[in-house]
Amino acid sequence: MKKILFVCLGNICRSPLAQGIFEKKIKEMGLEEEYYADSAGTSGWHEGEPPHSGSRNVAKQNNVNIDRQRSRPVRITDGQEFDYIVAMDTSNAQSLRLEFSISPEKILLMRSFEKPSKAAGQKLYVTKDVPDPWGHGQQAFQDVYNILETSMEGLIDFLQKESKNL
Ligand code: 4NP
Repeated sequence: MKKILFVCLGNICRSPLAQGIFEKKIKEMGLEEEYYADSAGTSGWHEGEPPHSGSRNVAKQNNVNIDRQRSRPVRITDGQEFDYIVAMDTSNAQSLRLEFSISPEKILLMRSFEKPSKAAGQKLYVTKDVPDPWGHGQQAFQDVYNILETSMEGLIDFLQKESKNL
């Protein structure tokens, strides 16, 4: 079984949604025996809290279940426990390396798996960060959902190819 940890700053907005979308897609693909997912924050500011209502709303609209998740900080032992740690933005990735001593080859950037799209005037993505929706309205959470939804397919493709190489 491959273990994947999704990481953002507070573990209440982006990474809980990423975990929920990953779990839903994995289940739809019949791969739930092959993967275990969790999420965590580089800060412990919201430890024990459920996901933000903005994330819960957009999850519910898309039949993604995140209600049982509770925020927890990254642990030093996550570096041994998980096969891959998927950072929501470059700042999270830097904290994982510098504060938590996670080896760089285990760290993936969520948005690096986003498929370039020409839709709606969007050419190539200009940032590798999933934007932080904290303090913004529901549209910001919808934007995060859309980015995660398209990036997740690329991440799962990558993981499936990796597992065949082993
Ligand atoms: P997240 O969003 O990292 O996507 O969970 C945030 C949540 C809380 C804070 C910042 C970002 N905060 O400053 O408390």
